[in-house]
Amino acid sequence: MDTNFPIEGPSLSRRQLLNFLTGATVAATAGSALYVVGKVFMPPAETTGAGGAILAKDVLGNPIPARQILAEAPGSRALVAGLAGEPTYLIVQDNSTLDPMGIVDNCTHLGCTFPWNPLDQQFQCPCHGSLYAPDGSVVRGPAPLPLKLVHVTVIEDSIWLSPWTEADPRTGNMPWWV
Ligand code: FES
Repeated sequence: MDTNFPIEGPSLSRRQLLNFLTGATVAATAGSALYVVGKVFMPPAETTGAGGAILAKDVLGNPIPARQILAEAPGSRALVAGLAGEPTYLIVQDNSTLDPMGIVDNCTHLGCTFPWNPLDQQFQCPCHGSLYAPDGSVVRGPAPLPLKLVHVTVIEDSIWLSPWTEADPRTGNMPWWV
């Protein structure tokens, strides 16, 4: 039986060391690149409050101060990014506070977004003509259901939006979206 094991020469050790160093360098470079990509494209962790509340945000994802919305005239509807990124209307009341009921800008017919028409005092969906009252009730179809609601709470200068899970005050029934 041959009991001689091959003895690695110094050149093989150097090759292994070079391979190891090359692999480690590639791995470190790739890891750094992935970290940078992750930091750029991964959204920052969401700050949540009581009852799953999140801060209302602008189109860039920055929290919107309440004073910015409340600077608008009474009766204004301000569009913000809300729960799960859904565009949501906040309503400035006559006493210059925010209505505790926010209205999600997502037509219950086929999901189009829609503007507020201040002259007609309606949300008017441009896709198939559905009309909604200021509280999001259906005035004219084909939309089959009232607009989804969220709770709006102002704490200091922050606007918190949280899921509406209790009875819908417009119908007296449990909300269709829960
Ligand atoms: S999506 Fe709004 S009316 Fe059809």
